Amino acid sequence: MDTVFHASTLRERLTTARQAGQRIALVPTMGNLHAGHLSLVREARRHADLVVASIFVNPLQFGPSEDLDNYPRTLAADQHALMTEGCDLLFAPSTTELYPEGRDGLCNVQVHGVSEGLCGGRRPGHFDGVATVVSILFNLVRPDIACFGEKDFQQLAVIRKLNRDLHFNIDIVGVPIVRAEDGLALSSRNGYLSTNEREIAPKLKQCLDALKTRLEKGIEPAESLRVTLAAISESGFKPDYLELRRTSDLSPIADDTREAIILAAAHLGRTRLLDNLKVVLP
Ligand code: PAJ
Repeated sequence: MDTVFHASTLRERLTTARQAGQRIALVPTMGNLHAGHLSLVREARRHADLVVASIFVNPLQFGPSEDLDNYPRTLAADQHALMTEGCDLLFAPSTTELYPEGRDGLCNVQVHGVSEGLCGGRRPGHFDGVATVVSILFNLVRPDIACFGEKDFQQLAVIRKLNRDLHFNIDIVGVPIVRAEDGLALSSRNGYLSTNEREIAPKLKQCLDALKTRLEKGIEPAESLRVTLAAISESGFKPDYLELRRTSDLSPIADDTREAIILAAAHLGRTRLLDNLKVVLP
C-alpha cells in the first residue's frame, strides 16, 4: 500500500487506475483507525478493484472549543492496519495541501434540512465542514463508491443528500456500527475515557436497548424518551440529545412511521459519545 500526501500524485495514480477500467472505492477517515473504520475498508474491498482510504483531521468540522489539537494522530499504526486490511492507496494530505488558500473565504458546502438539529444543532457549522471536505475528497478521488459508517447516522444522511444534490453520482454505502464486546460503539474518541468512565460508557447502549424494547412494545414514544433520558443522566452522562426520527430521512416520526431510529449523544466527562439504534414501531 502506498501513501500519497499530494493531490497531484493522487490524481496521477487514479487516472492510471481509471484508464485501466478499475472500479474505485473511497473510505474517508480522520485516522486513529479502529475496527469500525476497518470494516468500511473491508466493505469497500467487496465493491471495488482499488480501495483508497483518506486520513485528514479536518479543522473545518471542529468547533472553537472542540478537540482539534488533541485529536489522536497515529499515522504509522493506521498505515499498518490499512495495509493488513487490503487497502491499496492512502491519501494523507496536510491542511495546506487540501486548503492551499486557507480557511478564510473558502467555498462552504451547506446541506440543508437533514444537517439541522441533532448533532447539527449542538455543533454549529460541523456538517458544513464535513460536507465541504467530503466534496473536495469526492472531486479529487472521483470514486465509484464511498463507504460511511452508520455510527454517524446523521453524517451518512448528510452525505447521501450531498451526493444527490451535487450530482456526484457515487454509490454511497452505509456500514453497520461496530461495537466493543460490552456494546460500546467504537470511536477514536473512546481513547479519551478514563478507566472508570470506560466502565460506565456501555450504559449508553444499554439505555438505548431498554428504550427500543419499550417502543417495540408500543409504549408511547414521548414518555419512553423521557424515562430513558432520565436513565442516561442517572448513569452518569450529561445528555446532549435523545430523539426518535424516521430512519429514511431523519424527519420527525408520525403515527404511521414503522422504521425509526433512536439517536443519542451524551457527554461522559470530557468525552462526547454518539450512538443510535434502529427500531420497528408497532
Ligand atoms: P471518522 O470519525 O474518522 O470516521 C470515519 C468513518 O468511519 C465514518 O464514516 C464513520 O461513520 C465510520 N465509523 C467510525 N466509527 C465507526 C464504528 N464504530 N462502526 C462503523 N463505522 C464507524 O466521520 C469522520 O471521520 C469525518 O467526519 C469524515 C467523514 C472523514 C470527514 O472528515
